Amino acid sequence: MKAVAVTPGTPNSVHLKDIPMPSLDKYPNGKGVLVKVLKVGVDATDKEINDALYGNSPPGDDHLVLGHESFGIVEEVGPNVTKVKKGDYVTATVRRPGGSIYDQIGTYDMTSEETYYERGINLLHGYMTEYFVDEEDYIVKIPPGLKHLHVLMEPMSCAAKAVQQAFEVQRRMKVWRPKVAWVMGAGQIGLLSTLTLKLRGLQVYTIARSPAPSLKAEITEGMEATYISTKERSLEDLVAETGKPDIIVEATGSSVIAFESMKYLGLNGVLVLTSITGSDTKHELPTDKINIEWVLGNKLLLGSVNANSEHFEAGIKDLALGDVMFPNVIQKILTNPVDGLDNYQELIRLLVEEKSALKVYMNVADE
Ligand code: BGC
Ligand code: ZN
Repeated sequence: MKAVAVTPGTPNSVHLKDIPMPSLDKYPNGKGVLVKVLKVGVDATDKEINDALYGNSPPGDDHLVLGHESFGIVEEVGPNVTKVKKGDYVTATVRRPGGSIYDQIGTYDMTSEETYYERGINLLHGYMTEYFVDEEDYIVKIPPGLKHLHVLMEPMSCAAKAVQQAFEVQRRMKVWRPKVAWVMGAGQIGLLSTLTLKLRGLQVYTIARSPAPSLKAEITEGMEATYISTKERSLEDLVAETGKPDIIVEATGSSVIAFESMKYLGLNGVLVLTSITGSDTKHELPTDKINIEWVLGNKLLLGSVNANSEHFEAGIKDLALGDVMFPNVIQKILTNPVDGLDNYQELIRLLVEEKSALKVYMNVADE
């Protein structure tokens, strides 16, 4: 069967590859699930992998099958599978456990080992192929009423985890009543973080470069958040209006903005970093000023990566509620479809060149 792969270490190596059809025999415990792939999304991580800045092939292979944002339908299940059945819509988590205690209790997104295993990213093949198998623990059921949001489940899981982690660590405050949230970046993670923060009752300001009107602004406002263009308004000016934010979620993909954001966080606040930055950017900052403000303000810096199946489930609930509260808004993120695995060049072209794209994805097959 066909798969879209790269050769890690070689820039722009994306190619079509013939790989064997997977089988449930891989799981002698009877817990395998065979999934027919319907759609696969791509994001900045895939771009970095194709640029040879990030990602590794599985040991013994010179290629890595791409794709970590999956949407498919269950084709066949092993005899001991109880969570899903043939015909269910599903996605799959990305990370697989290593050996640490966190891996062993299902929180493989928090592994304490340097080596991490991620399907389509690091040391494990991904989902950009016709079928995949996995163990039922890593398969997440998607309600049929959400199938129009297909490849957003994985990015939503990362946004849901980032915000959930922030609330979790802020229990240090005994009472934490955050009012104002800033989201840096209005790409998919920025917009999905906006949604989950809105659903927690915060006043959300989603901050990006480009001036409105734009699709980003329309989606932000559609979720009853406020869109701010830094070309039109300075962040100092925004602080003067709303005060410093209680939480900032950084999702621009830029480490410069991640560190610049430290200047704006409010007292007792939390800054959550989510950008994956594979390059080697350097940047100068007023470190004394930031440092003293952070010390005197008891501020917290939190990195968040990946998501386990609990975050997928939480994210799916947020998408379901968001889709009811803001009808026809979230699906606008799904901007650029490409038809068929053969069209992988067009998929990568859109990912690299189409600046207005919020989500590029491939329609792999019909049901
Ligand atoms: C993926 C995550 C992954 C991260 C780092 C992101 O694009 O969505 O699942 O953990 O990249 O590899
Ligand atoms: Zn991703």
